[in-house]
Amino acid sequence: MSEQVRIFDTTLRDGEQSPGATMNVAEKVRIAEQLERLRVDVIEAGFPISSEGDFEAVREIAKKVKRSEVAALARTSLTDIKRAWEAVKFAVNPRIHTFIATSDIHLKYKLRMSREKALREAVKAVRYARSLCENVEFSAEDATRSNIEFLCEVFSRVIQAGATTINVPDTVGYAIPSEFGRLIKTIRERVRGIDRVTLSVHCHNDLGLAVANSIAAIENGARQVECTINGIGERAGNASLEEIVMALKTRKDLFQFHTQVNTKQIFSTSRLVSKITGMVIQPNKAVVGANAFAHQSGIHQDGVLKEKLTYEIMTPESVGIPKSSIILGKLSGRHAFRERLKELGYQLSEEDLERAFTRFKQLADKKREIFDEDIESIVVDEILRVPKRFKLVYLNVVAGNLTVPTATVQMEVDGKLVQEAGFGDGPVDATFKTIKKITRSRSKLLQFVINAITSGTEAQGEVTVKLEEKGQTVIGQGADTDVIVASAKAYINALNKMEFKKKKLIGM
Ligand code: KIV
Ligand code: ZN
Repeated sequence: MSEQVRIFDTTLRDGEQSPGATMNVAEKVRIAEQLERLRVDVIEAGFPISSEGDFEAVREIAKKVKRSEVAALARTSLTDIKRAWEAVKFAVNPRIHTFIATSDIHLKYKLRMSREKALREAVKAVRYARSLCENVEFSAEDATRSNIEFLCEVFSRVIQAGATTINVPDTVGYAIPSEFGRLIKTIRERVRGIDRVTLSVHCHNDLGLAVANSIAAIENGARQVECTINGIGERAGNASLEEIVMALKTRKDLFQFHTQVNTKQIFSTSRLVSKITGMVIQPNKAVVGANAFAHQSGIHQDGVLKEKLTYEIMTPESVGIPKSSIILGKLSGRHAFRERLKELGYQLSEEDLERAFTRFKQLADKKREIFDEDIESIVVDEILRVPKRFKLVYLNVVAGNLTVPTATVQMEVDGKLVQEAGFGDGPVDATFKTIKKITRSRSKLLQFVINAITSGTEAQGEVTVKLEEKGQTVIGQGADTDVIVASAKAYINALNKMEFKKKKLIGM
C-alpha cells in the first residue's frame, strides 16, 4: 500500500535565505496562500526572532492559513522559542521547529560548546517548546557531518523530551545518496522511540544532489521532506519541491509513496515565487523551466506528434501549465480576465481585481495580445505593492550611435514634482543616473537583467534590478513594452523597497 510522504515547504524561511530573495509581509502571505492551495502539509513561515518583519509575517500567515500546519523556526534559547510561539500560536495547526548544530565543526567553531552542553540545550528547548505547543520539530543542524553515536543520542533524548518530528539536515549539501540513505536507515535502527515520531530530512544542493538525497532518504524510512519551490535557498539552494513531488508521482511504479500535493498548482506556485523573489527560473529547470516540455529537434517533434509518451514522461497539464485557447486583448472583459487569473493561480479580491483589470485595459490599448506573463507583471505590480515614495511621471531619452545618451526625468518625490536631466554610457545608464540624482539615493546597483517576457517586437520587457545599501539588498521589477521605461520602473520599484526597508516598517 502506498504511504504518504509529508511535504514541509520552507520557501518562506530557508528559501528567503537565498541571496537577494527577501520578501515583505504581504508577499509572504500571498505565497503562503498559494502553498496552501498547492496542499503542502507544513508551511515554515519564518524565523520570528530574526526580525520584526519575520515575526509579523509568521503571525499573519498563522492567522490566514487553515489547512496546512504553520511552523516557526527557533534556536534552542528560551527567548527564541517564546518568540516563535508568540507568532505561530494563532494557527489552527501550529508547530515550533527548534534546532541546534550537532557536528563537531559547528560546535567547536560556531557555538564554542561541548557535545554535552549541546545535548542539554536540545532537550531543554524541546521540553519548553512542548510546554507551549503539541507539535514540536527538532533539527540537528549539520547532521550529515556529525558523529553518528552522538547524533543518535541527541535524537533519542529529544524524542524522550517530547519532539514529534526529528529532522536530519544535510546543511552543507555534503551527502551522497547511498550514504544519506544509509544514515537514515541507521537512525531508524538506533534511535530510541523513533517509531513514535515522524522522521524528516532537509537537503541542501551544494553538490546538486538535494533531490536525489531526499528520495534516497524516503526509500530508507523518511516520511517528511523539507524543500522549497524552485529549489531556492541558501547558497546552491534546497531540494526542489516540484522535483521531489513529480519524481514520486511519475515513478509510482517504483515507489510506494504519494504526497497530498495538488500537482496542477505547481506551475503557478513556481511562477509566483519567481516573480516575488526576482529569482529567474533557468529555462532547463526540471518540471517548471520554460524548456521543460519544449521539443526542439525534428526527431523528437515527430515522435511527440505521433505519441507523447515517446519523449514526455509527464504531461505539462499535470503540473498546471495553462493551455488556454482564449487570447486576451483589448476587447476582453472582466470575466475572461478573472478566469485567466484563476488559471494562473491568482485569486484576487473584488477590489484588487478591479485595479488589475484597469491596468490590463491600459496595457491592452498599447499591445494587441496580452500574454500570461503580462498579466503576472500587472498583478505583482498592482497588488503586491510597497508604499511609493518615488513615482515616475515623465521620461524622455535621447540615444543613438552619434548622440550622447541623455535622459530627462520627472518624478514625484513625497508628492512633489522634481525634474532633472543627465548623461550616461547608454540610455539605461543615463536614466538611472538621473533617477539617482533626483532621489539622492546611495544604493549601489548590483544586478540588472532584462527579460523579454513575451515574444515579438511588441513584447513586454521585464527588468529586474538588485540594489545594495549598507548591507541591505532589495530586488525591483518593472515591465513595459519599452525596455527603458521598464528599467526606470524597476529601478524606482527597488528604491521604494529600499526606503521602506530603511524605515523598518516591515522586514522585506
Ligand atoms: O540547513 C539547515 O540545517 C537548516 C535547519 C535550520 C533545519 O535550515
Ligand atoms: Zn537549510
